[in-house]
Amino acid sequence: MRKKQILLLKVGVVIWLCMVYALFIHKPATSSNIQISQTINQQLDKLEEELNGQSQFYNGLLEKLRILRRHQETHMSSDSLAEGLTSQDNSKGSTVQAGPILPVLLIACNREAAVRRSLDLLLKYRPSQDRFPIIVSQDCGHRPTREAIESYGDKVVLIQQPDLSDIEVPLKERKFKGYFLIARHYKWALNQVFQKYNHEAVIIVEDDLDVAPDFFEYFSATYPVLQSDPTLWCVSAWNDNGKANLVDVKNGSTILYRTDFFPGLGWMMTKELWDELGPKWPRSYWDDWVRAPEQRADRACIRPEVSRTRTFGKKGVSNGLFYEKYLKQIHLNDVSVQFSKMNLSYLLKEQYDPVFERQVQSSQVVTLNDVRSDRLAKGNTYRIIYHTKDNYKKITKALGLMDDFKAGVPRTGYKGVITFFYGGLRIFLSPGNNWKGYNPSWS
Ligand code: UD1
Ligand code: MN
Repeated sequence: MRKKQILLLKVGVVIWLCMVYALFIHKPATSSNIQISQTINQQLDKLEEELNGQSQFYNGLLEKLRILRRHQETHMSSDSLAEGLTSQDNSKGSTVQAGPILPVLLIACNREAAVRRSLDLLLKYRPSQDRFPIIVSQDCGHRPTREAIESYGDKVVLIQQPDLSDIEVPLKERKFKGYFLIARHYKWALNQVFQKYNHEAVIIVEDDLDVAPDFFEYFSATYPVLQSDPTLWCVSAWNDNGKANLVDVKNGSTILYRTDFFPGLGWMMTKELWDELGPKWPRSYWDDWVRAPEQRADRACIRPEVSRTRTFGKKGVSNGLFYEKYLKQIHLNDVSVQFSKMNLSYLLKEQYDPVFERQVQSSQVVTLNDVRSDRLAKGNTYRIIYHTKDNYKKITKALGLMDDFKAGVPRTGYKGVITFFYGGLRIFLSPGNNWKGYNPSWS
């Protein structure tokens, strides 16, 4: 209602100012007329700025009230989170409309078309505005992008990173300045989410991500798992090895894994984790910093077999490093899985690890050539063993898997094992049985 009033006021003032302006324009231009019209222009700009500020303020207020209302509802309801975790009662409707608030933070800068594409899909699949408020945080002060975001009205909340000052970058890292700007923006935006808006968790996406139809369902259902297992620190929608020929597209949409590798690219974290990471947040390369052992501290993320995000950001700060070779080919899940009706407690460490280890151990050991030939029976699981870094690189390259490490952890790795699907075979690329942990010198 307030917003409407402000809009009306804005329109009224603009009409009035136009009339005054027209009056002056019909007079012969004297220097005092020019001065007046300049003043009017300045005042118009000022007014617009003020009105925008007010509209942001009221949006923020509205958002806070929504949060309060939800908190109240969640606390009053007897539906505990634990119930959501183990609920197998299929007679209930989808639980995704009810439950704790999981805001989506969309990080934006200056890509107008990209932000529209991201927002359109998020809004298309969002089951509830109350449960999944979308906060778009814009850096870079790019006006067309701001206007694009504003055009979504109160479907999203726009916040703007206020510090657009130049950022000090060590000389030899000058070409990586973008990473410094991104890290600064993340820190500010996450502080807003947790300190200003008081959310308990957040799902972070960037402005060049497409999301899958069950994106919200996925995060909603995994949230209780994340909360109840201290050895987990994130849920990600991304599979680094999620190319169509490396995942079970046909039957694998329900499969979820634990991974020691932080995937990012559409991921959820709790306030508790932000309280830990926020105060020591780095000035640049935030995602690699997150992957360092000091931050990760042996914690894992949940990731899907079939990606729930896909990036279309060919031109980004990292200049499409992996884009053509890997990122572009990630298969986006296209069927809706009702995760909230499934029992996901198998992802808890104490349940997951023994099963996982048994699976790997009981798989027939085969060679790279066996896998590439057509001689292995489908339906079984197989294990390829790697011993050295070079060995690992050779195998991954041959199969089209990502071959890099961050802090010694290979992409999607869990206990050193890469799980993927190749030519209809489930394969574990695994270290030998005497594996002692990741070697940070592997890169
Ligand atoms: C890569 C990662 C990205 C990570 C970033 C920082 C991939 C595919 N992408 O970025 O997840 O966050 O490294 O290590 O691995 N942005 C700003 N301010 C700026 C410039 C960009 O906020 O000055 C925002 C963009 O809107 C976008 C995000 O930062 O949401 C990443 O920028 P992008 O240009 O897409 O860089 P990538 O190379 O994809
Ligand atoms: Mn990007």
